[in-house]
Amino acid sequence: MQNNIEPVIEVRGLSKRVKDATGELTILDQIDLSIAKGSSVAIVGASGSGKSTLLGLLAGLDSASAGSVRLLGKELSTLNEDERAALRSGAVGFVFQSFQLMPHLTALENVMLPLELRAEMPHGEIAAHARSLLDQVGLAQRTGHYPKLLSGGEQQRVALARAFVTHPAVLFADEPTGSLDAATGYAIIDLMFEMNRRNGATLVLVTHDAELAERCDATVTIEAGRLVNGIGV
Ligand SMILES: Nc1ncnc2c1ncn2[C@@H]1O[C@H](COP(=O)(O)OP(=O)(O)OP(=O)(O)O)[C@@H](O)[C@H]1O
Ligand SMILES: [Mg+2]
Repeated sequence: MQNNIEPVIEVRGLSKRVKDATGELTILDQIDLSIAKGSSVAIVGASGSGKSTLLGLLAGLDSASAGSVRLLGKELSTLNEDERAALRSGAVGFVFQSFQLMPHLTALENVMLPLELRAEMPHGEIAAHARSLLDQVGLAQRTGHYPKLLSGGEQQRVALARAFVTHPAVLFADEPTGSLDAATGYAIIDLMFEMNRRNGATLVLVTHDAELAERCDATVTIEAGRLVNGIGV
């Protein structure tokens, strides 16, 4: 399959090491991975195995100690921070495990932010689009709430709406259903796969949710910083 579908993400020999009190800690060790355009991939593994670190490297949020990541045809290590930020804001959606909403912005303003930063659409259109996404994640009644007034699951849904708002070519989500009850989780999963179908978006999801992993085209497993299955998705 990967011969005729161009990879949207290509990873070769990717390693991440950090210095700690006892010396050097290897968080990711020689990861090779290829993810086809329009596919959906679940990254699974025990807590502390390196999933979030890998996701951050794939999205260009963090830099590698060794190896390469090609995202949408661009070698991330050759881009500076501004160029990586431009690539992300144009084509990538990211849902952090910790949500990372802007505390001084309301739910609606948080969802509007990626489009406001692009400054390509009139403010009113951005607001209408953001409202419709908040409606789709079940938060039509919470648009004016600041993050600290939202429950954990509500913050997670705002973060998802914010990631969806630009119709990204690649959506990275770190445990996107982690704080949601089953019914809300299903609705969010449906929304992600609808985007995958409708816009051809590639989904790269870290999850402990077997149901979500099951719906993906492929699952890759990390154990203590090493990929134990799933190359060439
Ligand atoms: N900057 C850092 N400095 C030192 N150690 C780090 C750093 N970042 C991550 N680690 C360590 O690397 C390991 C992998 O972290 P990571 O957050 O990627 O795990 P994870 O698989 O996402 O876990 P979880 O399922 O709990 O979210 C952990 O043991 C963590 O403590
Ligand atoms: Mg994590």
